[in-house]
This record gives sequence, structure tokens and C-alpha cells, in this order.
Amino acid sequence: MTGHRAHWDLDEEVTFLNHGSYGACPRVVREAQRAWQDRMESEPVRFFQREYQDALDEARASLGALIGAQPEDLAFVPNATYGVNSVVASFPLRAGDEILVPNHAYAACHNAVDYFAERAGAQVKVIPIPFPCEDPEIVIERVLAAVTDRTVLALIDWVTSPTALMMPVAGLVEALEERGVDTLVDAAHGVGMTPLDLDTLGAAYTTGNCHKWLCTPKGSAFLHVRADRRERVRPAAISHGATASDERRSRFHLEFDWTGTYDPTALLVIPDAIAFLETLEDGGIDGLMARNRSLCLTEREHLADLLRTPLPCPESMIGTLAAIPLRNRDVRPAVWPLEEDPLQEWLWAEARVEIPVFAWPALDTRMIRISAAAHNDPSDYARLREALKGAPSELL
Ligand SMILES: Cc1ncc(COP(=O)(O)O)c(C=O)c1O
Repeated sequence: MTGHRAHWDLDEEVTFLNHGSYGACPRVVREAQRAWQDRMESEPVRFFQREYQDALDEARASLGALIGAQPEDLAFVPNATYGVNSVVASFPLRAGDEILVPNHAYAACHNAVDYFAERAGAQVKVIPIPFPCEDPEIVIERVLAAVTDRTVLALIDWVTSPTALMMPVAGLVEALEERGVDTLVDAAHGVGMTPLDLDTLGAAYTTGNCHKWLCTPKGSAFLHVRADRRERVRPAAISHGATASDERRSRFHLEFDWTGTYDPTALLVIPDAIAFLETLEDGGIDGLMARNRSLCLTEREHLADLLRTPLPCPESMIGTLAAIPLRNRDVRPAVWPLEEDPLQEWLWAEARVEIPVFAWPALDTRMIRISAAAHNDPSDYARLREALKGAPSELL
């Protein structure tokens, strides 16, 4: 198995095992973005008033074809946090309503739910999902057990950030729909990691980042809204689209396509990123996702062996991220984003290995999380293991 690192300009001194946090964009896609930026800055009015909309529609069609979404249901947003905020701010929450949030949820998005719930007098119910998690069915059972006749919305991560669990999203969406509960799927990790078919999934709302596993530049993400919910969802930034009229465009597109002046070039190169990723492995992007997942599965076993920790979940819950709990709970957990865990600091300072180590208060533990992206190969994880062998035992 070979990596494709030559296509990235990653720092050669660094073993980069944290694609999951911010992604990393290959050279060819950044060159395509730069070409758009040059064009934009050479005549900004031509770009924004005469070219931008068609180029954005092209990017939307290209992304929609990859994730099984009709362009009418698809809007662009700068990141998944913005997508979650737009949905929750637009949701007709009333006092007494309940929103379900599993305890593995990404803190920023959980904060957004708390904020809007509090304003409406609604309640956020945090659902404890065990970790280790032996079976995805447990997740479905726990979530459904929390549903009451006041439950209106559930925030479900496609892949959780601290614990890297791929949730049984299809089963959850179906069961929640049957109970009249809308699902907001946070697929910050989704496109480029695992096949998506959003029309078939049928969730009311799905937001996801392209800058992570689709390897686009930062500032490119999507929000998919099912047709029967589209009228209600408005962007977190209200702009011209609220009053603009164009019979060729829905209010949804008019509003989300213009939330104020910005640099849309990260979105415009989505087709370039897809075209590039298609070339890396036999089988195109599907082949690449399978290659990355297989790398992740093998390397999480090696890491768990080294750390003498049982694997915390079955293979069916793994995509291209895997978290292994650390044994030592006495290390004071770092408060992200202000601090890094001492093990993360040590690995960076002493071995130039970039890998996240998270505190996860829900279980009072710390996690080390590997990523398996196109630019990684087995030698990256071998360097991580060598470094860990030399790390002070009290940090593990
Ligand atoms: C599950 C999950 N949701 C949301 C986000 C937020 O992504 P962004 O900062 O791009 O909005 C992340 C980021 O890592 C994530 O892992």
C-alpha cells in the first residue's frame, strides 16, 4: 500500500496523523483555487455579478452527484458549525420542546443547540452512549429510549469527534422519523470518508465539511435540507436573499448563496478535488475510501496492541478515524482549544508527530485519535509507535 503524499505540500519533517481536525488540501486543488482567486481579483465585479452564480451551481451539481443529493436541496455553508447553527436557529422551537444530543457530540455544535434551546425555553437532553461501544444497536436503543412526545429534534454525528465512532445514522433517522422527530445529521466527517446517499437517507437536515475528507480548501461545506423543510431553514447570516427575487431560484438558494461578500473559491474547486481524488486508486473515490479505511483498521489494531488497550468498538463503527483510550487518567485534561494534552505536546516537540490527544470529560478519560487519509501510509503509524515507545509512561 502506498501513500499519495507527493501530491500534498505537508511539512516533510512532520508525521501528519491528524487529517481529521482540519483536513489538508493537495497542491493541484490549491492551484485551481489560486486560479479562481486570480480571476476574482482581476475583475471583482465581473466575477461576483456575472460568473459566481454559474460556477457555484456547477460546484453544487458536482457535489450533489457525489453525495446523492438533488441540487435544489443543497446549499453551501463555510463549515459544519455554520450549518448546524442555521438549522437550529431556524427551527420552530417552543418552550418545553426537547432536543436530543448524544454525549459524544462535537462541543461547538452542542453549544449551538444549548444556546438556541435556552432562548426558546426548550430542553437539551444529553444521551449517554457507552464507550467502549460494542454494538451500533446500543446507540439506537439509547437514543430512542430518550424520545418523548416533546422531542422535536436530534443532533446525530455521522462520525463522532472525540471517540471516532461511525454512528448507525440510517437506522437512527428512520426510527426517529417514525416517532415524528427531525434529525440534524452532523456529517462534518462524511463526504470522502464513507459513501453518502442523502436522498435515500431522508434526514430532515444534513450538514458536512468538504475540507476534511474531500480535501478541498477550508471554507467549503454543505447543508442538505429535505424538500419539506426547505422553506423553514435560513442561513445564520441574513442578507440580500431575504428580499431578492429571481423566479429561477428558490428562496433557499437566494439566501444561502449570498450571505455577504466572501471568498467562495474554496467551494468552486469542489469539482477539482473530486476529479483529483478519483485518480488516486483503482475504483476512484470508492476505492480510495476503502483503502483509507483498511489502513485505519490495521493501524488501530497496532496502536491498541502497543497501548495494551482493547479495541473500543467493532469494525462496523470505523471509517477512516479511530480513537484509542489512554490508560492514565491522572494527567490533567487539557482544555481545548487553549491547551494541548501533554502527550500531544510531547509527541510534537520530541518526535514531530502531529496527532490529537483529547480529553473526553463524558468518560473522564483521554483519547489518542489516528486518521487515515490518502497522504498517509503505514510508515506514518510506525513512526508514531516508535515515538510512543519513547514517551514518558506517565503520559500514557
Ligand atoms: C463531529 C464534528 N462536528 C462539527 C465539527 C466542526 O467543524 P467546523 O469547525 O468545520 O465547523 C467537527 C470538527 O472537527 C466535528 O468533528
